[in-house]
Order: sequence, then structure tokens, then C-alpha cells
Amino acid sequence: MDYLEIEGGSPLCGEVRIQGSKNAALPILSAALQSPGVTVLENCPAITDAASMLEILEGYGCKTRREGNRLIIDAGEVHPGRAPKDCAGVMRSSIMLLGSLLGRMGEAFLPYPGGCVIGKRPIDLHLEALRQMGARLWEEPEGVRAVCRRAKGAQIRLPFPSVGATENVILLAVRAEGVTVLQNAAREPEIEELCRFLTGMGARIEGAGTGTIRIRGVRELHETEYRIMPDRIVAGTYMLLAAAAGGKVVLTEVPLGQLTAVRQVLKAMGARQESRGDSLFLWCPGRCRGGVRIRTAPYPGFPTDLQSPLMAALCLADGESVIDEQIFEARFKAAKELCRMGADIRIRGSKAFIKGTERLTGARVEAEELRGGAALCIAAAAAEGTSRILQYHYIARGYENIIRDLKALGVMVQCR
Ligand code: UD1
Repeated sequence: MDYLEIEGGSPLCGEVRIQGSKNAALPILSAALQSPGVTVLENCPAITDAASMLEILEGYGCKTRREGNRLIIDAGEVHPGRAPKDCAGVMRSSIMLLGSLLGRMGEAFLPYPGGCVIGKRPIDLHLEALRQMGARLWEEPEGVRAVCRRAKGAQIRLPFPSVGATENVILLAVRAEGVTVLQNAAREPEIEELCRFLTGMGARIEGAGTGTIRIRGVRELHETEYRIMPDRIVAGTYMLLAAAAGGKVVLTEVPLGQLTAVRQVLKAMGARQESRGDSLFLWCPGRCRGGVRIRTAPYPGFPTDLQSPLMAALCLADGESVIDEQIFEARFKAAKELCRMGADIRIRGSKAFIKGTERLTGARVEAEELRGGAALCIAAAAAEGTSRILQYHYIARGYENIIRDLKALGVMVQCR
């Protein structure tokens, strides 16, 4: 079976080290394909999305090995091949391979990407930007075929700062002839992380983390070793868990500088926070304050990936809160499951109106996507009684061991 059983209602007490970042690891794994040598990655989270990405890399001839959280990728001999359809089909970040495959081999075929079911997730911005660098692309019934023998630097302006499109442009531009200037680039910390990794491989990039990134293409990239930064979304999930369930928790290896928007919301909700180095002490005595109005936005705004976990915490807060989801449509899938646990949530277009209730009750609920699944864990830990969260595999896409982490924080949880 594939479900978590959580016995909720007790305040938290415990400590967790935050795992390596999923959204940093996936594009870095794609970038590793560009080196004709061996890449060693430390702190690579053992999540199923990373396993799928490795399987795809193997489909292109890479040899990969995992030793705990260290990954060794030998991309010495690669061939255009084809990504296995089941992997690329389920994971959206497989689109991230397009820039790397073109940079390394000049041609690629990628089955259409999948990923979490959170609305239409088109890839038009990726394709248009790569075309501007000289790629020829054909959208075939099964996937995208691409050819680009020698990419050329270009002046590109994204109509929206898409994280994935920014990463794809960077991944091709590092090997293109001349200079690429990318405007309205995404500013997420994971972009900076990818650029730090590529710089370690010999790439020449300026402006990562700002809206304008300048990349001078180089002929060759070389092998490197890199430690992946901690996951801000996992850290934020456990912070919101503490707000919902109450108690005292300590999180270590927290990327505090990337969590300003989340920490402001927690402060408004009445959670006490103290940081020491990269550790965060959170103390949430009693019921949190609601009345929060949040709109998700590109970084440094409130992250869409923490929208459902925040919603779960607000279900129990004192007052009515409003969340406006501005990045993805159909990202309120967890709301109806939260209502089964006694939450009072109304959805109107891009907005969710959440009236905090005094208690939630354990129920049988179903995860339909990754972060919505994490939100259900938060609600279950705070609810009275036992909950069953079905479709646990969605959660394992991004949390390497949420059972271990929840137990370490004092939640009674089992996988059945
Ligand atoms: C990445 C993250 C995901 C996060 C999201 C927004 C990874 C592996 N995933 O996803 O966790 O929720 O950023 O912070 O890093 N869009 C288009 N056309 C495109 C590309 C995107 O219309 O070609 C739209 C999307 O449908 C969405 C919005 O732009 O509405 C944001 O997407 P994007 O920033 O590209 O997110 P991802 O890279 O898919």
C-alpha cells in the first residue's frame, strides 16, 4: 500500500536537518551532462525525482552511482538516444535536459514533460528562447525534437521570469558561440546555485540572481565537485508544520536568507523565531493568528511551492485569511481534502478564502501532487485523531524521508 498514517494533535518537539534542494539538484544533474568527465555531487537528496533524472541520464549513456547523499555521474560517453518515456513523462524537469543535450550533442528528442498536476504547464517560453539561440525545434506527437549544431549567443527577453526557461537558456548559452544576455530572468536562488555549479565547470556567467544574466559561451566544460544547498521549500514546510501543530522545533542547515517572505508570514501569525548560524528555533505557543493576506509571486515573493502548506496552517489559525495564487492555475487541489478534515475553505478563481477553525479532525485524504501532499501531512499532524494520506509517492518526489523528519519532530507517523 501507499499511504501514511498520522496520529495528530500533540505539540511538536524535536530537531531536523534540512535535506539538499530538489529544485537545485535537478537542473544541476542536467548540467552534469555537459561535462565529458566525472561530476561528484554532495548533499543530493534521495528523492524519487532525482532517481528519475538519473535514469534519464543513463538513457543518454551516462554512468551514475549513488553513495548515500553523494552522486557520481560519469558523462564521458553520451549519445543522443531517447529519455525513457515513463521517467520524462512523469517529471517536468526533464524539459531541463533540452538545453544541456543541445549544448553537448547538438540534437535531442524529449518526450513531453509531466510533473505535478497543477494546471497547464506549457513549455512555449523554453522553446521560443532556444529558437532565438539557433535551435530548430519540432513539436511531434510524442515529444520535442531539437537540432542545434552550434548555438549562437542572443539577446533574449522572457515575457515571464520562468524558472525552467531561465535554466534552459543558461544551459545552452554556456556552450554557445558568443554572448547571451537574458533579460527578465528568474531570480530564484536555484538559478544562482546552477550558475555557481556551472562556473565550477568553467562557464562564464555574470548577474545570476538578478533579472539580467550575461553568459559568454565556452568551448568545453570540465568535471567538478559540488555540494548542493539546502532546500528552502522543505525548510518552509517544517516551519509551517510547527505553526499548525504548535510546540518547539529546531531546524538545522536552513537557508535562512532565502526564506524572508515565509518568515515574515510566520511572524505575522505569531510564531517566535530565533536564528543562530544556519539553525532556526521556532516556538509556536497556542493557536496562531490568522487574518493573513498572501499572494504568491516569483522570488523574492512568497513561493507558490509553499502555498498549500501555508493554507494547511491557516486552516487552524484564528481569523479569515486570503491566499491569491498567481503562478500556477489549479494549485488548490489540497483544499478539498483539507475540508474533509473540517477546514473551511472557499475557492474563487485564483483566490482561496480560509476561515480558521478551532480544530481539524483526522480523515482519509488523498495527495494529488507533491506540495499539496505535504500540506495534508501538516494538517494531519495538527488534527485530532488519525489520518490516512493516500498516494504517498507524490510526497516522496520532493521529501527524501518525510517519515523520518516528522518522527524527529515528535509526530506519530507510519508508512503502510
Ligand atoms: C519551477 C520549480 C517549481 C516551482 C516553479 C515556480 C523546479 C524543478 N520546479 O517550476 O517547484 O513551483 O518553478 O517557482 O525548479 N510557463 C509558461 N510557459 C513556459 C514555462 C512556464 O506559460 O514555457 C508558466 C507556467 O505554466 C507557470 C509559470 O509560467 O504558470 C511558472 O513556471 P516556471 O517558473 O517555468 O516553473 P517551473 O520551472 O516549471
